Amino acid sequence: MRRILVGFFVVLALVFLLIPSGLWAGGDGFAEKIIYTQCKNCHRFEGKPKSRFDLKAPDLMWSGVKYQRPWLLRWLIGQEDNLYPNGYRWDKLRFSGKHMILMKEEAVVIADYMEKTFHDPRVKKSSIDLSTFTEMEARLGALIFREYSCLGCHQLKDDNGKKRGGPVSVDLFDAGNRYSLDWWTRFAENPQDFTPHSGEYLADISPRKLRHLIGYVMTLGVKDFKFYEPWKAEPFKIADVKRGAKVYKEYCAQCHGLKGKGDGPGAKGLNPKPTVHADLPLSDFPINYLYNLIYFGGKSVGKSSNMPDWGLTLPMQSLADVIAYVRFTFKGHKE
Ligand code: HEC
Ligand code: HEC
Ligand code: HEC
Repeated sequence: MRRILVGFFVVLALVFLLIPSGLWAGGDGFAEKIIYTQCKNCHRFEGKPKSRFDLKAPDLMWSGVKYQRPWLLRWLIGQEDNLYPNGYRWDKLRFSGKHMILMKEEAVVIADYMEKTFHDPRVKKSSIDLSTFTEMEARLGALIFREYSCLGCHQLKDDNGKKRGGPVSVDLFDAGNRYSLDWWTRFAENPQDFTPHSGEYLADISPRKLRHLIGYVMTLGVKDFKFYEPWKAEPFKIADVKRGAKVYKEYCAQCHGLKGKGDGPGAKGLNPKPTVHADLPLSDFPINYLYNLIYFGGKSVGKSSNMPDWGLTLPMQSLADVIAYVRFTFKGHKE
């Protein structure tokens, strides 16, 4: 019994030593004190979305689900650059100073408190699975980012690290390290639900393109983002040439011809003509090239958009099978 008691006091003493004295009041109490006496001077932690011109700083009522924790901690201890190139309130004198800086231990307690407290029931698990996100999807997302004017108001960095784009709203070149996928997916669904006057630029987008754009933003700033390589997955390991022949007949022969001679009925009106597979060493074409060409269509690899995309039509196994078939069958004129 005595030994247990002594042990207890030793542990207690250690805890005292390890926790900075300012926090000893208890984590939540400390966090509440800072948040409601200091952060609240500028940020709102409750209420309905309002015009930026009625706010001093971004709203934080959903801050518990918006950020990736390492980013939040870096932000709170002053290790991140400002997000708004012209200040959050560009209509006022430019806020050039640094954001309020906390000590590491304080930041941890505040981040804990935020993650526990400031939830948003609208934010659900994202329908987008980043573990199957491919490099081509990110490339297509980058095009959509431009096509849908995002660059008009948000900055990215070019290959030389120079900022590009209109500095109206938050910088996005590091977005992949900042946002939680769940929050960003829900935000994209209707930005006005969070920040009025941010525009509904994605209202007419297809689910597939939305996936490309959302995923692309989640790669921004992420070093060595691990792209998925579908051609290394199971369907390709068990791909079957015979099954592939059937797929070819159903989906490809109409243009490329039953024997790959480019003489299907669809070939007549097309320019450029459907490639004569029988002349090509498709056996030597890189598998990722064939995958992207067939899954995303000709234009994704700089070819004619009359070469259709089959990603939404063919199940992955059929795609793997037809690729196995064309690589097995068309070897150019080597033999
Ligand atoms: C003097 C006003 C002020 C105070 C006090 C303040 N902030 Fe901020 N905060 C801002 C401004 C302005 C921005 C946007 C800065 C920018 O341009 O990058 C910001 C940005 C943030 C962001 C990123 C918001 C986003 O999603 O873009 C977080 C998180 C944040 N503050 C947390 C806090 C916390 C926690 C506290 C209290 C410990 C705090 N702030 C105190 C003014 C303030
Ligand atoms: C006309 C300017 C404009 C365009 C175009 C625009 N945005 Fe925004 N965006 C805003 C504004 C304004 C906000 C709200 C935040 C703020 O007050 O600046 C915002 C917010 C965001 C946020 C959340 C920022 C945060 O940290 O809270 C993301 C992410 C975002 N936009 C991405 C995009 C993408 C992707 C596109 C293209 C589909 C796009 N935006 C197009 C102005 C724009
Ligand atoms: C509607 C007609 C059409 C159909 C159907 C079609 N293709 Fe094509 N395909 C084309 C055209 C046109 C080109 C030539 C593109 C170019 O040269 O810009 C082409 C080119 C190709 C190429 C050569 C790409 C290169 O780099 O030279 C391959 C491989 C290919 N298609 C495979 C397929 C497969 C596999 C299918 C069936 C799943 C298929 N195509 C179905 C029209 C079609």
